[in-house]
Parts: sequence; structure tokens; C-alpha cells
Amino acid sequence: MISAILVLCCLFVGAVLYQRSKKRENGRSIPGPNQFMTLQNLATHRFKGFHKWVEQLGQTYGDIVSFSILDKTFVFLNNERLIKKALVDDGVKDFLWERPPSIFRDRLIPNDILFSCNKDEQQAMRKIFHKSLSVYGDGVSKFESVVCKELEVLCQRIENQKGADFCMFDFIKDSLSNLISVLMSGERFDDDTDDVKLFWHWDVLADKLLHPINVTILAFMPFLQHMPGPLGNTSREFEKTQNKIYDIFYYKMKRTHVPGHTRGIVDVLLDIQEEQRAQGITWFTEQHVLSIIINIIGAGLITSSDTLGTFFLNLVYQPEVQQKILKEVIREIGPRRHPEVKDRKNLPYTHATILENLRCLSVLPLSLPHKASQEIVLDGFIIPKDSFVLPNLWVLHHNADVYEDPYTFNAERFLDDEGNLVPPEDIKRHTLMPFGIGRRQCPGESFARTRLFLYISKLVQQFEFLPPNDSILPKWDPRFYQHNLSITPPSYMCRAKQRN
Ligand code: HEM
Repeated sequence: MISAILVLCCLFVGAVLYQRSKKRENGRSIPGPNQFMTLQNLATHRFKGFHKWVEQLGQTYGDIVSFSILDKTFVFLNNERLIKKALVDDGVKDFLWERPPSIFRDRLIPNDILFSCNKDEQQAMRKIFHKSLSVYGDGVSKFESVVCKELEVLCQRIENQKGADFCMFDFIKDSLSNLISVLMSGERFDDDTDDVKLFWHWDVLADKLLHPINVTILAFMPFLQHMPGPLGNTSREFEKTQNKIYDIFYYKMKRTHVPGHTRGIVDVLLDIQEEQRAQGITWFTEQHVLSIIINIIGAGLITSSDTLGTFFLNLVYQPEVQQKILKEVIREIGPRRHPEVKDRKNLPYTHATILENLRCLSVLPLSLPHKASQEIVLDGFIIPKDSFVLPNLWVLHHNADVYEDPYTFNAERFLDDEGNLVPPEDIKRHTLMPFGIGRRQCPGESFARTRLFLYISKLVQQFEFLPPNDSILPKWDPRFYQHNLSITPPSYMCRAKQRN
């Protein structure tokens, strides 16, 4: 008996050694901290800023870093060349296309675009996503007119403060929420209810559940989502909020839907579903429609509001940046006309401030995780099957070799000597990838960029933003912002003086 156990042990050890030696032949293992150091650092950086720890790892270990927690391996890609090699070049991109399993894919938002791993269905969903947004995008003017109306309401709200302190970040969030509500349903939120906070509340809960550490905890102990305690409470509150969004933006609209009559994106999705049914295509179920709705609302809101929130906090600190944007806006658009998308090419400085803000903030510092669907070798390093692979956009965008003095806001770095935007081939432009890259690149990118431009140019045209009288302005420095999945600036007060 003892000898049989010994033989089995020898076979097991032999198999492990054989596996290891085989791996050494294929490539090297990725450098990184051991499990003990990892757990210690995860506990320390849980609230202090995970992205900063990952940045330190990059400085210590180089362009590719990995750590493991029990059987889960996390791989961070820290430079542009490796990110493109992994996600764009032929070779391994087909094996890094999937997302890791999560409670979102399995239960909270099944059959969606963001978490899905069903290749055909996911690509078809991306097409439907674009088609539904193109109800506004095709004729850009229609989208512009919806945004302009919402901007008028926001300008009026700011004007009503009559120079007193107000919370700019809350105003931005309410305005973006209302804009999404109009795009989805044709209607703003009811002013008599608190529903305008609904999207925001959903986003904050999703952001918490998607913190890399919570994702890891839930991957090991998914039952925690059903138990009393912080993760269980957040997950239940998330579902409750999401069901309320579905009630308003799906079930209520479905009851009053008239085929061919478009009040907003939800009607387009219902029409697409009808068309598909008529052609005998059955995969696009009610759950798919619900998931696209929540993707458009969820993926677009927190990223854009954090980006705009950071932008205006910086403007309060830098009146000279406001002046330069204003000068361009007045020269090209004048003091009254609403900015249009076609104006953007004539406003290179404004465009450069948007790029610089996307760079400094890097709102999704680790993008979204990709999963290695089989063992792959990248640049001579072995990425084990089922690893979580994270493009480290934070480190990429703060690389001092590409962006001198990377923690300083300097829009001019994106301009040439004549004041024109440097071309896309310039290293500073092609290293900048806040929307990710490759097959899972953000499908809302052009929508987001357009909206940022229209909000920024209109608000600077109308107001001068000033520090608050009665409170302290928090630091503008994304290194010190809160980091869950996204990096969120602190709430802040400011004043606005209407321009003549
Ligand atoms: C400043 C604004 C935004 C930023 C910085 C941003 C950034 C990103 C990034 C980094 C990814 C992950 C790419 C990857 O996995 O490699 C992503 C995915 C995604 N984004 Fe955005 N995004 C923004 C706005 C939006 C908007 C407005 C929408 C919707 C209207 C949107 C919808 C999505 C969706 C559905 C995905 C998942 C794509 C997939 O998995 O195939 N995003 N975004």
C-alpha cells in the first residue's frame, strides 16, 4: 500500500516537473510578486488606489507583470507594443478575446456585450448596438439637437445659481443622466421624483462590484453575493436598482411601443427584435434587449461623468486653459451659436485639452479584463490558460518617456509648433488608448468623444468657472482619486460667472 502511494507521488511530482520543463521550453514565466506579497499589497491598496500599486509593480518588474492568488493568475501589460501584440496583431488576439467569468455574466447582466464570451452573438450584439445608436448618429444633427437641448437646461441651471457655490459634479451627472434618458426614451426624468439619480446609483454599485479585488473575491466565493455582508448587500441593491431601470426603460416603453415609431433607442431595439422574429431569427431575446439597454446606460455614464468632472475641476485650477479654449470657441463659433461636431476640427487646442484629460485621468486604468482562453506565449512569456489579462492603460498613459512630466496637465503636448493637433502617427497620439484597442475596443467611443466636445465647448463659451467661496477645492490629481473599476474624482463645489 505504502509503495503504491510512493509510486503515485513520484508520478505526480514527475508530471509536475515535466509540465514545468515543457513550459521552460516554450517560454519564460512572467515576473511578479509572490502570493504572500500579493495578498499583503491587495489588503493595503484596497482603498488607497489599486492602479498605483500596479504602477509600482511595473516599475519593479517591467513591461509584463503577473501575480497569482490561489489558482487565478493576473497578467498586466504595461506598454503599447505588448498591448497591441496581445490584442491587435494576428497570433494571440483570438485567444485573448473573451472576458473572465463574473457574477455579471453569470447572473446580473447575462447575454450582454461587455461580459459576453459567445463570439458570434457578441459581434451581432455590437452591430445592433451601433445600429441603435445610429438613430442619432447617422444624421449627426439629430444627436446634436438632443444634446443642445440638454445643455440649455444645464446652462440655465448654472445661471440660476447667480454666482453662488454649486456642486459641478452633481450638475454634470444629472445632465448626463437626463441626456441618456432622452436618447433612450425620448423623455427626460420626471422632475418630481428622484429617478434622475437612478443611473448614477446603478453605476456606483456596478463600479464597486467590479473593483478588481471584489471581482477576485467573488470569483473564489461567488456565494458571498447571496449572503448578508457588504458584497451581498451591494449585489442585492444593484439588482433592485437595475430592475427599476428595466421597468422605466423597457417594460413601460414596450407597453406603449408602436412599431416603426421611434421615440428613442429602446424603440429601435424593439423594432430590430420584431424584424428578426419575422425572419425566423430567435436568438435575440428579451434578455438581450435588456442587456443592451443596461450596457448603453451603464458603460457610458460613469466613464463620461468622471471624465467631465475631472475636466472642470482642472479648469477651475487653470484659468489660462479656460481662456485658451474660450479664445478658440469665440473665433470659430462666436459667443452664442451652439457648437457642432463639425467645429471640432477647427478647435485644435480644445481637442488637445480633451485628449490630455483622457490621458491624465485614464478613467478605466486597467481597461476591462480579457481572458486567455488557452495557454499562450507573448514576447517569450507564458500566459497560463484562464489568466485575467489586463492592459495597463494607467501606466501606458503616464510613461515619462512618451509624456514628459506625466502628472502635469499640459494640452500643448498634443500640438505642433503651428498649434495644430499632432498627427495620429505621433507617438503621443498612438500611445493614447483610453477606449482600449482591438476587438473589444469601446463601441461608444465616437459617441463619448462627441459628447465631451459639445459639453466642454458650450459650457466654456457660456461661463467662467471659478473656485468656491465657502469650501476647499479638492486636489486635481487623479493619482489620489478613488479607484474601483473606474477612477472617480471627489465631489467639489465651484462658482460660475456668466460671460457677456
Ligand atoms: C470617456 C468615455 C469612455 C471611455 C474612456 C470608455 C472606455 C472603454 C474601455 C477602455 C473599454 C474596454 C475595452 C477592452 O476591453 O479592451 C470599453 C468597453 C465598452 N464601452 Fe466604453 N468608454 C467610454 C464611453 C462609453 C460609452 C458612451 C458607451 C455607450 C454608449 C460605452 C460602451 C462600452 C461597451 C458596451 C463596452 C464593451 C465592449 C466589448 O466588450 O466588446 N463606452 N470602454
